[in-house]
Amino acid sequence: MAVPRENWSSRTGFILAAVGSAIGLGNVWRFPYICYQNGGGAFLIPYFFALFTCGFPLLMVEFAMGKRARGGAPQAFQAIRPFMSWAGWLACLCAFIIVTYYCSIMAWSWDYIWYSVKLAWGADADGFFKGQVLNLTSGPGVLGGVQVPILIGIVLTWAAILAILWKGIGSVAKVVMLTVPLPVLCLVILAIRGLTLPGAVDGVTYYLQPDFRKLADPRVWLAAYGQILFSLSLGQAVLLAYASYLPKDADIANNAFMTGFANCGFSFFAGFAVFSALGFLAYQVGVPVQDVVKSGPDLAFITYPTIISQLPFWAPFFGAVFFLMLLTLGIDSAFALVEGFATPLKDATGVRHIKVVVWLCIIGLAVGIIYVTRGGYHWLDIVDHYISDYGLVTIALAECVTVGWIFGSGRFRREINEISEIAIGRWWDVCIVVVTPLVLGYILISSLVKGILEPYGGYPAWANWVGGWGMMIVAILIAVFLASRYNRKEVG
Ligand code: PFF
Repeated sequence: MAVPRENWSSRTGFILAAVGSAIGLGNVWRFPYICYQNGGGAFLIPYFFALFTCGFPLLMVEFAMGKRARGGAPQAFQAIRPFMSWAGWLACLCAFIIVTYYCSIMAWSWDYIWYSVKLAWGADADGFFKGQVLNLTSGPGVLGGVQVPILIGIVLTWAAILAILWKGIGSVAKVVMLTVPLPVLCLVILAIRGLTLPGAVDGVTYYLQPDFRKLADPRVWLAAYGQILFSLSLGQAVLLAYASYLPKDADIANNAFMTGFANCGFSFFAGFAVFSALGFLAYQVGVPVQDVVKSGPDLAFITYPTIISQLPFWAPFFGAVFFLMLLTLGIDSAFALVEGFATPLKDATGVRHIKVVVWLCIIGLAVGIIYVTRGGYHWLDIVDHYISDYGLVTIALAECVTVGWIFGSGRFRREINEISEIAIGRWWDVCIVVVTPLVLGYILISSLVKGILEPYGGYPAWANWVGGWGMMIVAILIAVFLASRYNRKEVG
């Protein structure tokens, strides 16, 4: 009755899928800004420190945990200590919550490819985005109606996710052959265009000018850790699910190094494309670069369109390339997030993969409707903040405790070394047992204290409760329920 578990047909397929999930919107609109804000070129020191002490060690943990359990996040925790499987279910739920709003950002990108053709935002990209596209309400308390073009965008996105996951990991391996190189190509085009514009050098200088004094500020080091976690898609069930399809003798350590270097290299390069364009905008408007620097959706949907309008030739083409890049960056992160939940659900319940995926897509689309209302943007902001600040740090911490403290880091490292091309040394134990848990614990406690003292983003306390604390508490309760319900079943 048991169906044999699928395996990645090639190593490239697995690595590209892991890289595709890691390289996402955050590489373009989060990294360059965080780098600039936290010391420019000097930020690369804490960033690489975080990559080596937290990024690579946790990538190895997730790859190895998923592979040895041959199951998604909860099964991976369960295989070490059944008591810890709640953390795996929490990771799945966080991944699913993320994808519900990630899809609405992709929906804007679909729409903006279309708007690029006529440079529809005209001279006022800010007014166009917040007014015409989002038709934003005054606050989270007023939802307003649904914005039909965005609704069409999320339907398209969920349809794409469904089509890609239809045949399971086999089709993922094929799709990532396109969705990983395509945004890289788009970025190269944009970087060449950006770097050949007047003002580009000033922009890049701003991006990388080292400010070594910043290294004395602990917040800079915390920012580096936060960015590494988010960027490598750690603590979100995704990599555990992908790794569960690795063949028995698959390498761990080298795969982790390749994934980490590819992702961080892309981020670093994206900074050149983004800051050269910002330098150009500052030059055109006649203001200093710091006056035009933005991050997040504002960078992508307001500042970038403004830059595109100023381009001397082929503006619609570069606009379309930029939004196509966002779409292709996002899609492999989006379907990875769904697969992160689908794999363990299928393993736990024995329901067929396709059935689980169809249901997740329907529920995801239904939940996502909230983000396509006129007030949806406020909710997206709140939910994203709580998930990124608390959800993923909690899960990554649980991984360190489960592997480093409960299972034993030495024993786990020997397991990794038995099958890896590169042997990892005791430095790995130090990272998993001491450095990373200490830093993550500190991040979690300090964000909790800050979050309790002041409601996030100036939103009313009730909205922070509904979209933040309340959502996290409900997710934890559901995770505990799922853990108690499914722990008794055999891991598939
Ligand atoms: N790593 C992606 C980014 O940097 O944009 C975002 C993301 C994707 C986070 C997938 C988590 C995830 F599971």
